[in-house]
Amino acid sequence: MLFFGGDYNPEQWPEKVWDDDVALMRQAGITMVSLGIFAWSHLEPREGEYEFGWLDRIMDRLHDGGIRVALATPTASPPPWFTLAHPSALPVNADGVRLTHGSRDTYCASAPAYRAAARRIAAALGERYAGHPALAMWHVHNEYGTDCRCDLTAEAFRTWLRDRHGDLDVLNEAWTTAFWSQRYSDWSQIMPPRATQYLPNPAQVLDFRRFLSDELLGAFTEQRDVLRSFTPDIPVTTNFVQGGWVSVDHARWAAEVDLVAVDHYPDSAGPGAEEETAFAGDLARGWGGGSWLLMETAPNLIYTPGRMHAKEPGRLTRHSLGYVARGSRGAMYFQWRQPRGGAELFHSALVPHAGADSPVFREAVGLGRALKNLATTADAAPPAARIAVAWDAPSWWALQGAGLPAADIDYLAAVRQAHRALFRAKRQTGFVFPGLESFPDSLGAYSMIVLPHLYLVSDRAAAALGDWVAAGGHLVVGYLSGIADPAGRIRLGGYPGAFRDLLGVRAVEWHPQPPETTLLLDDGTVAGRWAERVETAGAATVALYTSGVLAGAPAITRREVGAGVAWYLSTGLDDDSLERLLGTVASEAGVGPVLEGLPRDVEAVRRDDLLYLFNHGPVAASLPLPGPAVDAVTGRPLHGAVTVAGGGCLIARLSAV
Ligand code: GAL
Repeated sequence: MLFFGGDYNPEQWPEKVWDDDVALMRQAGITMVSLGIFAWSHLEPREGEYEFGWLDRIMDRLHDGGIRVALATPTASPPPWFTLAHPSALPVNADGVRLTHGSRDTYCASAPAYRAAARRIAAALGERYAGHPALAMWHVHNEYGTDCRCDLTAEAFRTWLRDRHGDLDVLNEAWTTAFWSQRYSDWSQIMPPRATQYLPNPAQVLDFRRFLSDELLGAFTEQRDVLRSFTPDIPVTTNFVQGGWVSVDHARWAAEVDLVAVDHYPDSAGPGAEEETAFAGDLARGWGGGSWLLMETAPNLIYTPGRMHAKEPGRLTRHSLGYVARGSRGAMYFQWRQPRGGAELFHSALVPHAGADSPVFREAVGLGRALKNLATTADAAPPAARIAVAWDAPSWWALQGAGLPAADIDYLAAVRQAHRALFRAKRQTGFVFPGLESFPDSLGAYSMIVLPHLYLVSDRAAAALGDWVAAGGHLVVGYLSGIADPAGRIRLGGYPGAFRDLLGVRAVEWHPQPPETTLLLDDGTVAGRWAERVETAGAATVALYTSGVLAGAPAITRREVGAGVAWYLSTGLDDDSLERLLGTVASEAGVGPVLEGLPRDVEAVRRDDLLYLFNHGPVAASLPLPGPAVDAVTGRPLHGAVTVAGGGCLIARLSAV
């Protein structure tokens, strides 16, 4: 079975609407809903007094309708009574302002009162619904990521730091506290990063984000363990959210959930949304080790900066199946029914304000039918990729700091661009995680790896990459990689520190470029954003800078190392140039496109014996199949070339004939 459904908030509606809901869910082929995510004030209206009657009734009704439930613990939004009774559990921002209720996420994960209340409500739900036949999954909390800088957090931070650094001198060294007289002579002097007169210490900020990730993980595992004590066989998950503000290292968290669940909201109205969908799906598959679930996306809108964009017909289907192609065990949405009020009253839903007589609901009905027919593909092996891009949350955090050589350094944009170039070059792509213990063992699956802005790297990870190249790997190192050790201390002797010897280059100074600057290299490559004065020491020069003070100096280099090759890009290539270069490296590494001759607008994903074809353009495309097949949705036999309508998609099961 593939999961199909979304956040369902019956507590926002009179009970007479619930029967309609279940009938419409059946019509759309909904298989699971996430229930009660923000229902704490309805479940426990006063401390210790529970009202489960309404939840019993809707759980039963859903079960009668054949719909499963991912039952949430509501701990992302404590009720007003809680914050009034426990003001010390309200979060405090970096300016020392204590926030108040009236929104959501108003809690401090280090506050004992909050943690105890969260455990209590989780236990109450665990006890009550342990045997309920609709219960398919536990959905703990919602999008962990809340930041707090209060005194309780300060205490917890110090405990975490003692654990990590052991000795105060070690911490002083790691944080370079000799700079600006910040040397600590007692643990109690250390604070979370709060408002300061001028730039904060970057190592302190970085450690705080690591701490927060671990602290929030502690809050999650505590609830998970409570739930497991009632239902050892029901999977427990929480929905990961990705954003610059989120201090959660999902690659690490993945080991603690039974199923990686991811929320994803593309932010580009044009074809960028499809590229982002592919990016998120590939990254989630990497976190999940193959299997994961799209827990939320918007059915009928794309949040572009400052404006909501309604999806064109077919886009809901293509996006949803795009995640499934990349290993998702279904497609879930925020949300089932669009609310009449509340802060997110215009966020889209499967049942919009207009009601079920609407394009989005009709498209959902068709999608539900397709997903039902695809049920047998739920356990297909995930897409195999021989190319990977590196993802490292701490490098992202470090590059969000102040005092960097350029204010517009953007880690996420760099990783997305590398993935996008490979997407456009029609190569199937995965992710590797240099911060994980298992990183060296993960490399064997790949023939090519790209490191965009891998700013922090351990000696161990760098050495593993060196061994992998010598054994035949093709490595592309982007600028701002290998610069610092995991504490954020610069690797001396020239950039890119950890990879200097492997690449056979030494960069002696940086020349960050204004965003409007174009740098033309002598082989026609179009670059910008960044430049470096590079000296080669064993590498061959592939392209030279042609202008400015760096004219005639190496910009792109290549070095053969054992059976492999290590490339260095000391500048930011534009999309077309990066696509060309990464396509060339992929071919050299023996990795071809998913399908030869694909038009620009057509995306192909190979998953086991399934070939997913998505036509994101407006014009029908005729595509050659690699062999006889059947349409996995309709069962229709397919021979030779197939036509995929503009905005349409087709899933061919290749081995079935
Ligand atoms: C998600 C969140 C939902 C809702 C949605 C709106 O990130 O989990 O609760 O806020 O965004 O887009």
